[in-house]
Amino acid sequence: MRAAIYKKYGPPEVVKLAETDRPSPKANEVLVKVLATTVNRTDCGFRSAEYFVSRFFSGLFKPKYGILGNEFAGIVEEVGKDVRLLFVGDKVFGYNDVNFGAHAEYMTIAETDAITTMPDHLTFEEAAPITEGAHYALCDIRAARIKSGQNVMIYGASGAIGSAAVQLLKYFGARVTGVCNTQNVEVVKSLGADQVIDYLTEDFTKIDLKFDFIFDAVGKSSFRQCKPLLKKNGTYISTELGKNSENIFLALLTPISGGKKVLFPLPSIKKEDVVFLKKLVETGRFKPLVDRLYPLDNIVDAYKYVETGQKRGNVVITLK
Ligand SMILES: NC(=O)c1ccc[n+]([C@@H]2O[C@H](COP(=O)([O-])OP(=O)(O)OC[C@H]3O[C@@H](n4cnc5c(N)ncnc54)[C@H](OP(=O)(O)O)[C@@H]3O)[C@@H](O)[C@H]2O)c1
Repeated sequence: MRAAIYKKYGPPEVVKLAETDRPSPKANEVLVKVLATTVNRTDCGFRSAEYFVSRFFSGLFKPKYGILGNEFAGIVEEVGKDVRLLFVGDKVFGYNDVNFGAHAEYMTIAETDAITTMPDHLTFEEAAPITEGAHYALCDIRAARIKSGQNVMIYGASGAIGSAAVQLLKYFGARVTGVCNTQNVEVVKSLGADQVIDYLTEDFTKIDLKFDFIFDAVGKSSFRQCKPLLKKNGTYISTELGKNSENIFLALLTPISGGKKVLFPLPSIKKEDVVFLKKLVETGRFKPLVDRLYPLDNIVDAYKYVETGQKRGNVVITLK
């Protein structure tokens, strides 16, 4: 099969297209013919190993799994002998950040992992980007215990996580203020944000509103900067570690001292989460924002674009 393979950590160019063996499903796994996938910041993080900690999962000195790609949409081509929930011919989508493998024509995944059948009306390109940004957003929203009517600020509302967070928070009944640049104001409004601040023309720290939750979905702010905007028991979460990994230390200390706090939840995804997101898509409550599509042959260009840090939502890879 054709696959985007990386044999060492490094810049986008370490990824090379090559022929390799098609994987065989174990007894509890399905073989998926991948028709669409994404290049996202999780792929970039594991490919560059910029944060050394990722190597504890992906291989200390060189990549353990040679094929990245965590989100996928495709068709079940073969099932292991113990598989009961999925059938050959099912259109499926899901997420696999344990051994990745979606940047290839075929991948395997356990039927009990984060995989389910696709919403009926969706194309493969629309289904592939449902899970990555949304599951990070979901973990953080759940950790902040958001209730209907609460005030939430999403800093970086135009990224994969931010654009999913706007829609999920609206589903949970929050009042959402999004922060993005001028070009993305209309998009963020169209996702459902009640108010949008253009960070190029307005200082978001000076607005006259207090928040129950400030979610920095691009990791560019700090607790110190956002603290004055939080209500008495408000929560701050960032998707990045922050300067000198301060968000880890703040997440250990601030919940003990009481009042305004930082949380740093560890993301996870289960089959139930994928089923939950599928229902939101089917009922029109969530639609992943898609920026660009690239064929698998141009995956290095896709990586380069994602690493500009300026994509709007998601970058999809097609394999037809
Ligand atoms: N290490 C990992 O495994 C991993 C995995 C997933 C996510 N993450 C982190 O999570 C964060 C979000 O990921 P993502 O995929 O959602 O990001 P993304 O899609 O790459 O975010 C890009 C968007 O953020 C906006 N943005 C950039 N700087 C901004 C700023 N200062 N203020 C407001 N908006 C800004 C960009 O618009 P403009 O620049 O045009 O304003 C663009 O629309 C990233 O920091 C990423 O590194 C890390």
